[in-house]
Amino acid sequence: MRWILFFVTLIGSSMCGREKFFGDQVFRINVRNGDEVSKLTQLVNSDNFKLNFWSSPSTLGRPVDVLVPSISLQPVKSFLKSQGLEYSVTIDDLQALLDNEDEEMQYNEGQERSNNTFNYGAYHTLETIYQEMDNIATDFPDLASRVKIGQSFENRPMYVLKFSTGGEQRPAIWLNAGIHSREWISQATAIWTARKIVSDYGEDPAVTSILEKVDIFLLPVANPDGYVYTHTQNRLWRKTRSLNPGSRCVGTDPNRNWNASFAGEGASDNPCSEVYHGPHANSEVEVKSVVDFIQKHGNFRCFIDLHSYSQLLMYPYGYTVKKAPDAEELDDVARHAAAALASLSGTKYQVGPTCTTVYPASGSSIDWAYDNGIKYAFTFELRDTGHYGFLLPANQIIPTAEETWLGLKTIMEHVRDNLY
Ligand SMILES: *[C@@H]1O[C@H](CO)[C@@H](O)[C@H](O)[C@H]1NC(C)=O
Ligand SMILES: *[C@@H]1O[C@H](CO)[C@@H](O)[C@H](O)[C@H]1NC(C)=O
Ligand SMILES: [Zn+2]
Repeated sequence: MRWILFFVTLIGSSMCGREKFFGDQVFRINVRNGDEVSKLTQLVNSDNFKLNFWSSPSTLGRPVDVLVPSISLQPVKSFLKSQGLEYSVTIDDLQALLDNEDEEMQYNEGQERSNNTFNYGAYHTLETIYQEMDNIATDFPDLASRVKIGQSFENRPMYVLKFSTGGEQRPAIWLNAGIHSREWISQATAIWTARKIVSDYGEDPAVTSILEKVDIFLLPVANPDGYVYTHTQNRLWRKTRSLNPGSRCVGTDPNRNWNASFAGEGASDNPCSEVYHGPHANSEVEVKSVVDFIQKHGNFRCFIDLHSYSQLLMYPYGYTVKKAPDAEELDDVARHAAAALASLSGTKYQVGPTCTTVYPASGSSIDWAYDNGIKYAFTFELRDTGHYGFLLPANQIIPTAEETWLGLKTIMEHVRDNLY
């Protein structure tokens, strides 16, 4: 009984103020042709249903996942029926998933406090992730250091872990995660990866040889304001938290804000959209900080961006259907990486260029990297394929991180052996 009360108190206090999703559902809507896409676009643009798209409509025949608030369930069902659009319900009680996640996090935080440990199989706050980055740098001073690359819109520091075994400016790999704040498996995979790199250096010959030739920079939380917001206000927040003058809507999609066909296809000029590209390229200080750091360094050869969900491994371009000059090599590397990833527990990834694999997306990080001479540019969309979507249970963190690591290592070995 005391335990139950303890739980209720913890949950009550942590949930305070965070948006609730009682009775809300996630629909998977089938779209098979351009006609159905335009019907669905009508739905996207109708503000009155308060829908939140978990993936964008495209003509490629991929189903679209959309969060439907309980109050819109009936009207949306009627609309879909009247338009002849087929759908199924993938999550029938969103709040139940959120409650589970929150309960687990609270319980784990208590455990971690009493044990003074960091549980890699749990989700964490920004503060705890930053603390663990510091711990890694302290535990492995000859290999890892925590570097501040800038400040977020709300003035939170942006930290990267630099892994390096040499003093001089070596060719480097950029590992990015959490640019979309609700994709929690990406930040969790990134911090696990940091610990993996320091523990495997000197043990795993692949890691040792990679770090003898290249440096690795890892940014686990590329959108710190958004991440804090997912903990305190709305678990499903995706964008930055910058203000948009003249609009009641907050935030820019930081993965439409890079200077690569900025404001082109697959981005919106509406500040209320989940894919709002922002007023100009690099308007988001979180994006600009990375761009400035990479340009100043001048020797990056690989840029990998971790997202969720869908189980995809993609390479440029997102802004055009045109083939990237290195498409064949990138496709080959990605296929090997996906095979290595699948070898652990059979998780299947689809591989291809962003634009023709999911949907057009201009202003994305990897297109910018690629157009700026960073040839090995990849996006991972981690687990799952929609059963839990952004709310992947914590017991899948370590299995996801472990399999992803095999994919990452395959790419990094290729970079090591092909330093152009
Ligand atoms: C913390 O310690 C308790 C008791 O020693 C143990 O049951 C629990 O698994 C530990 N938790 C973590 C996160 O290590
Ligand atoms: C974007 O890139 C173009 C070159 O492709 C350059 O002329 C322009 O200044 C860049 N804009 C920003 C905001 O960096
Ligand atoms: Zn994303």
